[in-house]
Amino acid sequence: MAARGNFSNRLGFILAAAGSAVGLGNIWKFPFEVEAGGGAAFVVVYLIFCFTLCFPVLVTEIAIGRKTEKNPAGAFVALGFPKWKYLGVLGIISGIIILSFYNVVAGWAFGYFIEMAQGNFDIGNQFSDYITNIWRIAVYAILFMGATALIVSKGVSGGIEKAAKILMPTLILMILGILAYSFTLPNAMTGIKYYLVPEFSELNLRVVGGALRQAFFSLSLGMGALITYGSYLSKKENIVSSAASITLFDVGIAFFAGLMLFPLVAYSTGGDMSNIQGGAGLIFVTLPGVFESLGPVLGIVIGSLFFLLLSFAALTSTVSLLEVPVSYIVDEYKANRNTAVIIMAVIIFIAGIPSLLGNGYSDMLTNFITYVGADNPTDFMTFLGQLADIFLLLGGFLIVTFAAYVWKKANLHEELAQGHEGYHQSWVKTFINITVSYLCPALLGMLFVLVVLNNFF
Ligand code: PFF
Repeated sequence: MAARGNFSNRLGFILAAAGSAVGLGNIWKFPFEVEAGGGAAFVVVYLIFCFTLCFPVLVTEIAIGRKTEKNPAGAFVALGFPKWKYLGVLGIISGIIILSFYNVVAGWAFGYFIEMAQGNFDIGNQFSDYITNIWRIAVYAILFMGATALIVSKGVSGGIEKAAKILMPTLILMILGILAYSFTLPNAMTGIKYYLVPEFSELNLRVVGGALRQAFFSLSLGMGALITYGSYLSKKENIVSSAASITLFDVGIAFFAGLMLFPLVAYSTGGDMSNIQGGAGLIFVTLPGVFESLGPVLGIVIGSLFFLLLSFAALTSTVSLLEVPVSYIVDEYKANRNTAVIIMAVIIFIAGIPSLLGNGYSDMLTNFITYVGADNPTDFMTFLGQLADIFLLLGGFLIVTFAAYVWKKANLHEELAQGHEGYHQSWVKTFINITVSYLCPALLGMLFVLVVLNNFF
């Protein structure tokens, strides 16, 4: 059997996994979720979830992957629990669903980079025309899937890790550069206040459920992406500290993305934040006008940098999303990596056609979309997003429950102790023990039910 490949060192693994985590979820979704969910109040709930509920799932996924050196479905079989492979299959399906629409949005981001580079700031006002111009966005989506496939085809260290080592530091530099600049603008503080001043009155169960969904999606949890990346991690490495770095990285970038965005928005509105379009529109509708207000030269520089940064962040995530089904085909069907990449990229692109067209006007499609449960075509991606979020929560709940009660904690601890001197004596072990056995199964189970009820009934 051909070697599966490995990350060359700890940094390579952390950057690749952080690359998976940092994506559209951080830069596009997190800032407006914070703003809509009560500012700092949301951030506090989000942070608590990341470190108490998500971190243990992250650690468990990596441990299962590294122990078995297998894809998410094969991993459960390798541990001796063949029926649990369906949990891995659920993860692979979730990944396919996510990539199918994520790739389309990533294509928009890349398209916006091209528009900004040409100084077309009016694009924000033409957003709905833009995304209904099917042929143009299809070309961008094909380009994006092509770039993703190319990186994945080069393998773990030569493709995924190499791309992350170039793209992640570039991304950080770009964010810090734009952030530093945005702080110098008039009304920057108004923007930051708007972003962060806590509104505890806006916290309710829906917001709390939303924070957990966002945390799961943002950390790429619950679908075996981390099982897959963990399967390429050397036994010498410390899983717990790597997982902590990945979590900090992800949370940090999301937080900085907001700090970078809101001062820009406040500047362009002259400090009047009453009419800001939140939600998806914040980036694709509002921002081009914000860049325009910086003047033609700076507008082009900062605007194109921003959308390039968004595209880079998305690319390291699409790579991880594609790697999950690819690793499955390579492991289970002994397929050649290139063949697996081509097959999966084509299938997922085709699965993404409804998302691509979902914003266009086709009667047949509208009927189909209404049939599957969304109110109108533009809701199709939202519907897929909700479905995927629910699968991720279910996946995360089942993964920790499996580790604690089926695989058994002693085995989990044994894997975590490899490459971690003193693990058995450390407080971290106690923390993992409590969270994986009790806190995560109980709270994730409860919140899963709540989110399902909230979304579908
Ligand atoms: N974490 C990515 C983001 O925040 O944009 C999305 C994602 C990537 C989810 C990979 C799941 C995954 F396996």
